[in-house]
Amino acid sequence: MKNKIKICIMGMGYIGLPTAALLANRGYQVHGVDIKQDVIDTINLGDVHIVEPELDSYVSNAIISNSLTASLVPTESDIFLIAVPTPFHSNNLNANTSSPIPNLDYVIDATKKIAPYIKKGNLVLLESTSPVGTTNILTEILSTVGVVVDDIYIAYSPERVLPGDIMRELIENDRVVGGINESSTKKAAEFYRTFVKGEVFETNAKTAEMVKLTENSFRDVNIAFANEISMLSDDMEIDASELISLANQHPRVNILSPGCGVGGHCISVDPWFIVNSANGKAKMVEQARRTNDYKAEWVISKIKDNAINFEKKHGRKPIIACMGLAFKADIDDLRQSPALHIALELNKELNVVVVEPNISKFSILDLVSLEIGLESDICVYLVPHTVFKKVKIKNADLNFCGMVIGEK
Ligand SMILES: NC(=O)c1ccc[n+]([C@@H]2O[C@H](COP(=O)([O-])OP(=O)(O)OC[C@H]3O[C@@H](n4cnc5c(N)ncnc54)[C@H](O)[C@@H]3O)[C@@H](O)[C@H]2O)c1
Repeated sequence: MKNKIKICIMGMGYIGLPTAALLANRGYQVHGVDIKQDVIDTINLGDVHIVEPELDSYVSNAIISNSLTASLVPTESDIFLIAVPTPFHSNNLNANTSSPIPNLDYVIDATKKIAPYIKKGNLVLLESTSPVGTTNILTEILSTVGVVVDDIYIAYSPERVLPGDIMRELIENDRVVGGINESSTKKAAEFYRTFVKGEVFETNAKTAEMVKLTENSFRDVNIAFANEISMLSDDMEIDASELISLANQHPRVNILSPGCGVGGHCISVDPWFIVNSANGKAKMVEQARRTNDYKAEWVISKIKDNAINFEKKHGRKPIIACMGLAFKADIDDLRQSPALHIALELNKELNVVVVEPNISKFSILDLVSLEIGLESDICVYLVPHTVFKKVKIKNADLNFCGMVIGEK
């Protein structure tokens, strides 16, 4: 333990805990910090509080071998890595762009917490998805509280892992690393090369921050295009799936599948960081965000129209089954999920049941089995979960999840 390089990781969530567990199994002495006592207790027992394949064995091995500890407070280390949330202030809009404002409170808090433990020669890494300039803000905070920033190394490296495959992608993905100066970039890249098999690309902190925001905005813009085409197709009474599949026969066209919106804590959040700081110049990024948010409202109005038509025909309100609540296929994550938003809105005035095969309990809505959901008057397919692909679609059903289901 004496000769091991020590790493203190702030934030034991979907990114911080897998990173901590991986590094602890790779010869580092890791200390994980979180603000939640239950998270700390779970980790110290060798257990996990998040669902991620293989993570449990990495954590239990690390705890058994004493290479991973967890507590509410940081400890002196050689490397500090920050992986705390970076959401936006949902009720606080930028007065110029009417866009949500990034919430850096968690990053600022974590930075202040590690400050007293930082010594000359240490490396401080930020991995939280952050607005451009955040690594500089972090540097200023450290300087303000008395850390001699010229004596340490500070860098940003965005995380690109896919939940469900995190333990493999942490090692195999290429990485971008950008320091506040050349020596910080080199020091950080050297660290990542000790466990990353992919290529480690070196740049500056601002570019590295913008790389992550650009990647997620690229996805958002492309999905917005598919969503816009799907709404236009509906106006023209054209089948959007058929249209997109035919257009994709072109050798250089690859339109994505439309859905009921865009969710999750990355793609539906990060583009706002660009919009918020662009003073009205990020027009396409902003429009994509608004188009994808609007798609969920459009879906709600379509379902309501259908419910009205059903009532006119049958003299009673329909039972509507919302098929899927998660923000994408085959996961249990409901963060910023448009499907959940749609189900909650419909539930205010219609008879709604929900089918979400990836969760077992949900107190806010009437969660039913797939078999019971399929007996509803109208099944609304919101998420392309694999189990729904075998289902035979009825005439009254609505499919917004961008996949062909059963037979028409
Ligand atoms: N989850 C992903 O797939 C993913 C992918 C790429 C990037 N990111 C980014 O990584 C960052 C972390 O995301 P996540 O999914 O791990 O979030 P998370 O919510 O799963 O975990 C964050 C953890 O940090 C803890 N925390 C909050 N404030 C803290 C503080 N001051 N000190 C110590 N711990 C604190 C929280 O209690 C929580 O357990 C975010 O910026 C996110 O956008 C996430």
